[in-house]
Amino acid sequence: MYLLVLGANSDTAHALAARFAQEERAHLYLASRDRELLEKRARDLALRHQVEVRPLVFDATDYASHAAFYAGLDPKPDGVALAFGYLGDQQEAQQNFGEAKKIIDVNFTGAVSILEIVAADFARRNHGFIIALSSVAGERGRQSNYIYGAAKGALTTYLSGLRHRLCPHQVRVMTVLPGFMATKMTEHLKLPGPLTASPEEAAGHIFRAYKKGRDVVYIKPLWRWIMMLIRNLPEFVFKRTKL
Ligand SMILES: NC(=O)c1ccc[n+]([C@@H]2O[C@H](COP(=O)([O-])OP(=O)(O)OC[C@H]3O[C@@H](n4cnc5c(N)ncnc54)[C@H](OP(=O)(O)O)[C@@H]3O)[C@@H](O)[C@H]2O)c1
Repeated sequence: MYLLVLGANSDTAHALAARFAQEERAHLYLASRDRELLEKRARDLALRHQVEVRPLVFDATDYASHAAFYAGLDPKPDGVALAFGYLGDQQEAQQNFGEAKKIIDVNFTGAVSILEIVAADFARRNHGFIIALSSVAGERGRQSNYIYGAAKGALTTYLSGLRHRLCPHQVRVMTVLPGFMATKMTEHLKLPGPLTASPEEAAGHIFRAYKKGRDVVYIKPLWRWIMMLIRNLPEFVFKRTKL
């Protein structure tokens, strides 16, 4: 199996790539922007798991490069794990549209751009799977991060449609809805321990859900119930919360 990991420098993606290398003997295309970190992680994974690992420079927001990037993969991947993301700064995004646009571009537009290319290939081959990391933040807009939440909500809806479209082609699309994960994205935040997953723990959840053929998966099962509550709070109550 060849697995293409988009945003491979994500701490979660790195742990997931290791899991696929270890359990599936997957060869890896590691695609992200920071070449130095990619090469370091590629060497580490190749050495530890004795699989082929190719580091590739990829920018989710350089849409014009995506077709050539994918065309350059030989052999074509059997699966894609999409993990790039940008949390950004909600306060900054409220005052500066550039920041809001970056949040939308990385989390949503970039994902659509590359996944449409992947989907066309997988549909043609009637083969492949896609695992994409969205977020619980996309399930209800909250004052503290609604621009990131809106981008992830759009991604979740997009993945639902993609799953529907690709089902007749035997191509699976799995949506991952993490709550909190202790990665470099959140290292400046104080996270509640019991609700926070390490990258390795998250990768374990994702990998097991992939093996079970799940469509939508939360990281840490408690998040399913938390989000059910948050989604169902009436607006007149929700508006008064500090979430
Ligand atoms: N951490 C959490 O609490 C949490 C919660 C819910 C959802 N998520 C989502 O889960 C996914 C993985 O998160 P993580 O916490 O593992 O992330 P992370 O360790 O912070 O890594 C995110 C990676 O995204 C890559 N990236 C950012 N902009 C990019 C671009 N334009 N093109 C290509 N790559 C880009 C960066 O790669 P380079 O280093 O190469 O620039 C970065 O290493 C993300 O989609 C995130 O939104 C995270």
